[in-house]
Amino acid sequence: MSTYAVIGDPIDHSLSPNIHSAAFREMNMEHTYIAYRIPKGELEEGVESLKKIKIAGFNVTIPHKIEMMRFLDKIDESCSIIGAVNTVVNENGMLKGYNTDMDGFLDPIKKRNLQIEGSRVLLLGAGGAARAIVAGFAKEHAKSITIANRTTNKAKELAEFSQKIGLESKFVNIDNVENNVEKYNIIVNATSIGLKNEQCPISLEGVNKNTIAYDIVYMPMNTDFLKKAREKEAIIIYGYEMLLGQAARAFEIWHGVEAPYNAMKRALLGVA
Ligand code: ATR
Repeated sequence: MSTYAVIGDPIDHSLSPNIHSAAFREMNMEHTYIAYRIPKGELEEGVESLKKIKIAGFNVTIPHKIEMMRFLDKIDESCSIIGAVNTVVNENGMLKGYNTDMDGFLDPIKKRNLQIEGSRVLLLGAGGAARAIVAGFAKEHAKSITIANRTTNKAKELAEFSQKIGLESKFVNIDNVENNVEKYNIIVNATSIGLKNEQCPISLEGVNKNTIAYDIVYMPMNTDFLKKAREKEAIIIYGYEMLLGQAARAFEIWHGVEAPYNAMKRALLGVA
């Protein structure tokens, strides 16, 4: 029996313990998965205490995804490209970091057989999650990406990173996104706008039935962005799908067997 955790702050509303516990039940595994609050600035001590209890592995979330890189002994390629970590394996005190956000993000797009290659992307946000998403679009050969963020400088930095890994890129302040977004094939919200039921920050004029609208906010499930995109008959992808995708991949890294995706999904959506 081993113990797993998710670390972050705030952490009390994390759904990861529910998802992983459901997977353990489904697979008859006697492991436990706990939520552990580590405030910003206390990561080093927090990680030490996890090692002391011989944690088998842990997920990392806001605000530690980038800082956690410093405490890793080994870094998987998924992690080094993105520069952020969300999944850690503890091999006898040696911590190895992975990033499952990128594949978790791509998962629902692939499940729907939607095409990324050659597409024009509008990405709202320039934080840790946005970075993993940019890497995903580069991997799948999107044509171009426009990064829109509240803090323009961060959009600029992420646009430079995008360029470096092979995407044509532009950046803009989120308040200055064009009024008609018809030229974009895919629009992703990777900001936290929507978590508190805020209005969609851009005009969705020009969105149509061929546009993919993807929100990584999973609570609430139906954000204002997705509601408005649905009114335009866009192809909708929910934030919970990325959450499940990254959790399933973390499960597979830790346990070496295929994740019980449907049981994890049932736990997340609260259906029997
Ligand atoms: P994550 O790891 O989920 O990406 P993050 O790194 O804290 O979290 O990034 C949060 C993103 O949401 C950022 O792009 C942030 O914009 P800033 O770079 O300007 O901070 C964006 N964001 C959060 N609250 C916002 C708000 N009220 N309006 C606009 N953007 C917001």
